[in-house]
Amino acid sequence: MQNSDDKPGVPLRSATSNEEAQGAIDALLHEERVFRPLPETLSRANISPHQLAEAREQADRDSLAYWEEAAEELEWFAKWDSVLDDSNAPFYRWFPGAQCNIVHNALDRHIETANKNKLALIWEGEPGDSRTFTYYELYRHVNKFANALRSLGISRGDRVIVYMPPLPETIIAMLAVAKIGAAHSLVFAGFSAKALRDRINDSQAKCVITADGFYRNGRVVHLKSTVDEALAGVCETCAESMVVVHRANVETDMQEGRDYWYEDLVRQARPYAETEVMDASDPLFLLHTSGATGKPKGIVHGHGGYMVGVHRTFSWVFDIKPTDLFWCTADPGWITGHSYGVYGPLLNGATTVLYEGHPLYPQADRVWSTVERYGVTILYTVPTLIRMLMRFGDEYPRMRDLSTLRLLGSVGEPINPEAWVWFHKVIGKGDCPLLDTWWQTETGMFMISPLPVSLLKPGSVTKPLPGVEVDVYDENGHPVPPGKGGLLVVTKPWPSMMIDVYNDPERYKETYWSKFPGVYLAGDVARKDEDGYIWIQGRADDVLVIAGHRIGTAELESALASHKAVAEAAVIGIPDAIKGEVAKAFVLLNQDWEPSHQLTKELKEHIRRELGPVAVVKTIAYPDSLPKTRSGKIVRRILKAQELGQDVGDTSTLEH
Ligand code: WTA
Repeated sequence: MQNSDDKPGVPLRSATSNEEAQGAIDALLHEERVFRPLPETLSRANISPHQLAEAREQADRDSLAYWEEAAEELEWFAKWDSVLDDSNAPFYRWFPGAQCNIVHNALDRHIETANKNKLALIWEGEPGDSRTFTYYELYRHVNKFANALRSLGISRGDRVIVYMPPLPETIIAMLAVAKIGAAHSLVFAGFSAKALRDRINDSQAKCVITADGFYRNGRVVHLKSTVDEALAGVCETCAESMVVVHRANVETDMQEGRDYWYEDLVRQARPYAETEVMDASDPLFLLHTSGATGKPKGIVHGHGGYMVGVHRTFSWVFDIKPTDLFWCTADPGWITGHSYGVYGPLLNGATTVLYEGHPLYPQADRVWSTVERYGVTILYTVPTLIRMLMRFGDEYPRMRDLSTLRLLGSVGEPINPEAWVWFHKVIGKGDCPLLDTWWQTETGMFMISPLPVSLLKPGSVTKPLPGVEVDVYDENGHPVPPGKGGLLVVTKPWPSMMIDVYNDPERYKETYWSKFPGVYLAGDVARKDEDGYIWIQGRADDVLVIAGHRIGTAELESALASHKAVAEAAVIGIPDAIKGEVAKAFVLLNQDWEPSHQLTKELKEHIRRELGPVAVVKTIAYPDSLPKTRSGKIVRRILKAQELGQDVGDTSTLEH
């Protein structure tokens, strides 16, 4: 990559105050550097700039024909009657009439090709142990576990919770569940027993797959005992069985008739399992994600459209070659792990790397030593991790051979230009295109992203991919002129769009399709520049993105309010130099309670117990009152403006 405007990168300062963090955001707004693809990138790319332009043109003319061609690259048990059924919008159905199973394309079909003995998965445990699986080996494991699940009475149409650390069995479980036509629902292993229980109940899951424990940051974390706690309060017909993978050799109580060791089940299982024939829109998985209000929603994705979107976007954006070694650092428990840690690579016959533990364990070179040891060619990660690693300076990456890297990727939150330039320059040595991909749990696939041949601007996610149409609207649904911020919308259906909110179609319609009829509301604020490049500025709603993970202010507030000391709580996000954003809570206490260090500590622990270690509130303040509208709604906007030292704007509608 050439830096056409060779201004040196701004050196990293560790921001200690909001002012500095705000400064970083302002820098993002004024970023003007441009990076053009190098001649080698252009000559090696699978998709040339010309082909990309042609694909865009074709998709603009007829997006359905574009996606139909993409679908033809996969195998189907029966082809579609039409590409898209929009007769019941916004419940769009892609490839109606088609029959397929994503596992057939991700696994079964490779066994008949040269991919059979290629590595599908390289897994590394935190203590340094490692396991590898060829496509054939993974296929064998999945077949056996599919039969084991069937022997537990799980079948087509059921839901199965996978509450696992990143282990090979996590991927095996996902694929085995999908193979037999059930839907998997992954719950990140950092979630609490209560969060797990809510998700089991919400998805009415028949079975939970978990591990005895796992390694994280040099410690053993118990997991099975958390599931036991969660199961104590689940609905009667839920979680009839539990499968436990041996990982950390911790003492584990097994309940006769309910709990089974994974190893025992697969030892007895037959080696070959039929892959269930699914309709294109049959559910493949549920994944709960935080919204602006209420409880997390179970986002539902189906087999057919999801497979087409993820297959095409993975191969185009990451320019996949047979020799690539792809590492997505996201946990399989998040959508990034689903689409681009598991399904995208396997659908494309690529080799994927999965790492169990903490990225800084035992020291800050773990990521770089992993790249070096396996020869990773494509590294896909989150800005928070980039900023965390950048803090340790250039020495750690310099000590390692990173010359195998050819592409870098970023996702989950806006990447500030300083982190972008460091990643590009120090890790990518200036010649690895950095692909900043914008998408969501709901979109299933990359929506706005460069290809390696694109012209890059640090901090911009560039342009929508072919077949995707986005815009930036004002409050009234009119496109805003370049340079102005507005609401990011998607104006045309896309194949891997979510199918529904589980058991709550009204919420699906209301959340995403009611503000501007016929148009998908993403919930982000963005602006377009003069070149049509998109710059994501953050969430438009009360959802925080902390270290790339979504969490609703409502969830944090209700967790706080469930503590006996708390009368009322309001939570806002404030900029943070490493995590992008952190939560700050304003708490009104009940009578007889006084603010203290001890109470703050207790409240933080209480949130952790309620929601799990992902939900961190960094600071808690105890004001005398909270700003409210006359109807009694807390106005977080004012708290935020006060916090950042900004103008609080019009307060005439507030209670005084
Ligand atoms: C944010 C993660 C800026 C955004 C795949 C979105 C981003 C939310 C980017 C979805 C990016 C995701 N630049 N912001 N490249 N990618 N986001 O569902 O606010 O966990 O709405 O999906 O993350 O988070 P989710």
